[in-house]
Amino acid sequence: MIPSQPDSPELFPVAIAAADRVARDIVQFELRPASGLELPPFEAGAHIPVRTPSGAMRQYSLCGAPSDPGRYLIAVKREAAGRGGSASMVDTLQVGATLQIGAPVNQFPLDDRARSFLLIAGGIGITPMLSMALALAEDGSRRFRLIYLTRDREATAFLDQLASPALKSSVTVHHDGGDPDQAFDLWPLLEKPGSVNGQHLYCCGPTGLMDAVRDMSGHWPASAVHFESFGADTAPRADDRAFTVLCRKSAHEFEVPVGQSILAIARSHGIAIPSSCESGTCGSCKTVLLSGCADHRDMVLMPEERESHIMVCVSRAQGSRLELDL
Ligand code: FES
Repeated sequence: MIPSQPDSPELFPVAIAAADRVARDIVQFELRPASGLELPPFEAGAHIPVRTPSGAMRQYSLCGAPSDPGRYLIAVKREAAGRGGSASMVDTLQVGATLQIGAPVNQFPLDDRARSFLLIAGGIGITPMLSMALALAEDGSRRFRLIYLTRDREATAFLDQLASPALKSSVTVHHDGGDPDQAFDLWPLLEKPGSVNGQHLYCCGPTGLMDAVRDMSGHWPASAVHFESFGADTAPRADDRAFTVLCRKSAHEFEVPVGQSILAIARSHGIAIPSSCESGTCGSCKTVLLSGCADHRDMVLMPEERESHIMVCVSRAQGSRLELDL
């Protein structure tokens, strides 16, 4: 049995048992444990940390039914403008390959207090929602409605599963064709706060959708609203520039190019830095900033820490140079 240690970045090997293209740029991987081992159980909404073939850590929601033991299912969208983690998964992983993963962590669980659920998914945000829908349909004691918003049919994963007898009456799939005028109108669903009928709202998807749902649900009780976010937006930005980092303790100086993190370049110079999420959410890579002005892109530093610390997995420099206590 592989121990379940939700807060540990400890990794263990699994084999790729299947790799299936489930939508444009989205591949579902079935992960099986090495022989003689068992995978830790999980609940709907959980994700696992994955060491991608590029070396970067990424978090992927488990999209299968929690009652389906012996395997994990994850679906990975190839982000062409990302930092290479998802592309290395989609482009290089084949059946039979080994992958290092961590035990499931659930920061997006179905709330025991809810009497019913409104699940809103956009794009690849369907992954935790599919697991939730499967779990709720199987349990049968609480109603749910799943709204799944995508650009077009080719970008829509899991259509067959969502059209199955167990799910189809609770699922609405909507394509907007990339036209804001064709966007699904969520307001009729969100106008009445969930506290009225014990409904809880869950949302996972692109930043634009999450911001829109946040705006439209501001009058809901905070305890009934749940958003899944896998961290800071780590994609390179149009105005990103290379900058220099001086590591005072180890006496290293290096350039951090566009599309690479301080963490990755420091490691390539033999500097050991702890990390776990590599997406600006866990706090593992917190580093003392000795001089220079950081461009903070994490989700953990408090405002009062931002002058003196930096999360080196995602943040960059506002100017040309940073000096770090590394
Ligand atoms: S590794 Fe988690 S915040 Fe940097």
